[in-house]
Amino acid sequence: MIDTIAPAARVRALPTNFFGALDAAVAAARTRGVDVIDVSKGNPDLPTPAHVVRAMQKAAAAPGNHSYPAYGTRPALADAIALRYREDHGVDLDPQSQIAAFHGSHEGLMAAVLGLADPGATVVVPDPGYPAYASAAALAGARLHLLPLDPERAHQPDWSALAALTDAAAVLLNYPHNPTGATATSMTFERTVTEAERLGAAFIHDFAYSSLGFERRPLSALTVDIDRTVEVSTLSKTYNMAGWRIGYAAGSAEIIGIMRGFQAHAFSTIFGATQDAAAAALAGDQSAADALVDLYRRRRDLVVDGLRARGWDVSPADGTFFVWVASGGVDDTVLARRLLEERGVAVAPGSGFGDRGRGYIRLALVHPLDRLAELVERLGAPAGGRLP
Ligand SMILES: Cc1ncc(COP(=O)(O)O)c(C=O)c1O
Repeated sequence: MIDTIAPAARVRALPTNFFGALDAAVAAARTRGVDVIDVSKGNPDLPTPAHVVRAMQKAAAAPGNHSYPAYGTRPALADAIALRYREDHGVDLDPQSQIAAFHGSHEGLMAAVLGLADPGATVVVPDPGYPAYASAAALAGARLHLLPLDPERAHQPDWSALAALTDAAAVLLNYPHNPTGATATSMTFERTVTEAERLGAAFIHDFAYSSLGFERRPLSALTVDIDRTVEVSTLSKTYNMAGWRIGYAAGSAEIIGIMRGFQAHAFSTIFGATQDAAAAALAGDQSAADALVDLYRRRRDLVVDGLRARGWDVSPADGTFFVWVASGGVDDTVLARRLLEERGVAVAPGSGFGDRGRGYIRLALVHPLDRLAELVERLGAPAGGRLP
């Protein structure tokens, strides 16, 4: 142990890695021989479509991809992202100035927050919300201001929480919403832009579940504003490419320019073959992506209907592949621990997503239907807070 080596303040400020802690608990149970049904993380269980894998194989074999890639985003990939926005959302983007690729939307979110927020600045984040927003704000030395999303408002923001705030660097939202599965209304995005204008803030919309809407295609925030709004999205969920680490941001040219500047210094460049394969996924046949939405819909129906029939209080899940369930009066971390120990089911305790997640657990629909049917059986009935 070298006592002169210490983490920097920005590392000390980081919250515990929520998903890392979940993984460790699941691994420990499996070591004890437990047959764990792990629904604690949003890690897609199905393979990437074959034509995208073939595009990657071809691109990986091309010597042109073996040297350092150029900075920025390959034109073919930027064009493919623009094509998806045009066809899926009716939004026209300039591929050169309004689009940038990243190693996953996680990195896009980091580039947005670290590119925009000075130490001491305010970053508005949803509560409950994806834990990486707090990590990004901690790395920036920024202050978090929580925007409550309550079930009484269908998990749309309670804007009164911003009444006393006079300025902010960024307002972050995420619809379809991890962890609740709620989808946005256009009124939500209109009000966000109005509030962002008032605060002098950028609007960063995390659109990681851009394809996963069960009633209709999820609404892009860029249909409402493109001047102070950037949308961050990913191929991880739409094309089962979570391991490939490729995502993108689109919207305000000014903000995209800032994010690219940060990216070049912090993250360098992206493997050319990954960019080529991502272009093939986005520009090619979308039938696998459409079929995936149908599959998640069937999984959602099985789990939501099954749990409701057993007496669990389940939030409407209009998008994402998550199901948000009230923990029935039991502390959510206690319930999660007991479900793992007594039922061999790993869930994410809602409090990992913020204070307003307390009293809930999140289930990810990342198993085949028969395994999810077993999950429902194992969960049984809430039984007044006691496991049956
Ligand atoms: C809301 C949300 N944003 C961002 C991400 C990061 O995804 P990726 O970095 O794979 O694009 C996830 C992953 O689960 C997510 O749920």
